[in-house]
Amino acid sequence: MKKTEVIERLLPKVTAASASVEHFAPSNIALCKYWGKRDQALNLPVNASLSISLDYLGSFTRVEPVENGVDEVWLNGHQLLPSSRFSQKVSAFIDLFRRDQDLHFKVDTRNNIPTAAGLASSASGFAALTLAMNDALALDLPPEHLSVMARMGSGSACRSLFTGFVEWEMGVREDGLDSHGVQLEQTWPGFCIGLVEIDAGEKATDSRSGMQRTVETAHLYQSWPLQAAADLSKLQQAIAERDFELLGQTAEQNALSMHATMIASWPPLLYWQPESVAAMQKVWQLRAQGMQVYFTMDAGPNLKLLFQQHDRAELLQHFPTLETVEPFGN
Ligand code: DP6
Repeated sequence: MKKTEVIERLLPKVTAASASVEHFAPSNIALCKYWGKRDQALNLPVNASLSISLDYLGSFTRVEPVENGVDEVWLNGHQLLPSSRFSQKVSAFIDLFRRDQDLHFKVDTRNNIPTAAGLASSASGFAALTLAMNDALALDLPPEHLSVMARMGSGSACRSLFTGFVEWEMGVREDGLDSHGVQLEQTWPGFCIGLVEIDAGEKATDSRSGMQRTVETAHLYQSWPLQAAADLSKLQQAIAERDFELLGQTAEQNALSMHATMIASWPPLLYWQPESVAAMQKVWQLRAQGMQVYFTMDAGPNLKLLFQQHDRAELLQHFPTLETVEPFGN
């Protein structure tokens, strides 16, 4: 279905925009990954996914109407060229809200996490932008429709509308109105995430083109929906029973299975650097010594460690620059 038809179903007509609004949305790390689309225009996924939101780490996005007839996009204090990839994505996203109205905006996003380093800053950016547009245009959308809108900006953004554990239900409808984030009610005090930064530079192939290449060229991808479905139910069980070993094993295997499909693409997609592999080996070594620590990785060289509060101090001795987050406190 065309995006314009979906928007007709979702949004009321807008006429005016209010002065200036700012919203925050957290970044999120998928424990069961979204990799592959069944509809590229609407960002409808091949599989359901499950993530954890990163509490205070994310994006602050301010929108403000401008009179000069073009959108202005700022990222971390710098104005971007209208031709840049991010500006074009943001402007195309605002098109969904303004439709045929002559409304333009300055969009100013500040991330407190490294941008485009596989730390999902586009997820928090589009989620915060969705919240800001909803307010600026007084749309008053319910949470699931905000999540549907954010998904059309960037798939993983539909999970960043919520805190804690979030499932992105894949949905079955052609218009995608049932494909959005749903916050799980369970919490997990003492659950920690650690960010191991290997390289904060911009990556050569973004998730969007990476997943498309995988779908189109990797035969191995055929096994991915089965892997993801099995992992999703194991994660739901692990969260319900607070079974950390089951959660960690499932998340790590899920990430490595996704990377296996990327490596099996052509041209091959290998996001790892030698330091990424060294960090994985360190995690495996710590596990062999009895510590419950696991990793997950997205479309980038950085690792995200999963561990519990009581191991934090010891883990920091092995990863001294680790930035840690406890989404549910301890
Ligand atoms: C590996 O949400 O960035 O981080 O929908 O094309 O914008 P688009 O892709 P994006 O992909 C994220 C992929 C991932 C896994 C995940 O977050 O689930």
